[in-house]
Amino acid sequence: MARGRFILLEGCDRAGKSTQCSMLVSALKARGHAVELCKFPDRTTTIGKMIHAYLTNAQELDDKAVHLLFSANRWEAMQSIRRKLLSGTHLVVDRYAYSGVAFSTAKGLDLTWCKNPDRGLIRPDLTFFLDLPTSEAERRGGFGEERYEKRELQEKVRDVFLQLQSKEWVMIDACKSVEAMHHEILKETEHKIQVAEADAKLAEED
Ligand code: TMP
Ligand code: MG
Repeated sequence: MARGRFILLEGCDRAGKSTQCSMLVSALKARGHAVELCKFPDRTTTIGKMIHAYLTNAQELDDKAVHLLFSANRWEAMQSIRRKLLSGTHLVVDRYAYSGVAFSTAKGLDLTWCKNPDRGLIRPDLTFFLDLPTSEAERRGGFGEERYEKRELQEKVRDVFLQLQSKEWVMIDACKSVEAMHHEILKETEHKIQVAEADAKLAEED
């Protein structure tokens, strides 16, 4: 059996990541795949609750301390993520370490320092970046109440994301319709899954 694929969707706020993640999960399920949704930050854990308090301005925290909490929130999920992938379940993941680095670097922390705590995390097999100009994100209506939903910071975050971009990323123009984006994301994901399944079959025959 092929290991499940780790499919990551990244992007700035309002780019439509959560909508696309749930559409992708539903489409893969409908095609008979075992698939689950993961979201970072995972606000349900003890660490996640501290992050939530910070994001909703209920609590102040040092920038470095909160960066480490976001990273710890990923580390605490690793065992469960590994287990699911090894059992053949695909994971659709809404934000991951790139968000961690992009937001903290945009706040003024050193890029290399920001990358270090996430070293060794399970790597995504496929990364989509939903790209949206900040002016368009603003037009999509009300940045909410959360700490980072401010134009100036979002612009910096997008710049850092684009610096982090590697040639393996699949760039998605998030100005497109929800359906058009879904079509692209599903097509690339199915291709990735098919390649993994074919490789696993070949390995079995060896
Ligand atoms: P959310 O809106 O996707 O729940 O994410 C909450 C905020 O946290 C969002 O503004 C991005 C930010 N963030 C970080 O600063 N570091 C991280 O590691 C992650 C995953 C998110
Ligand atoms: Mg948000």
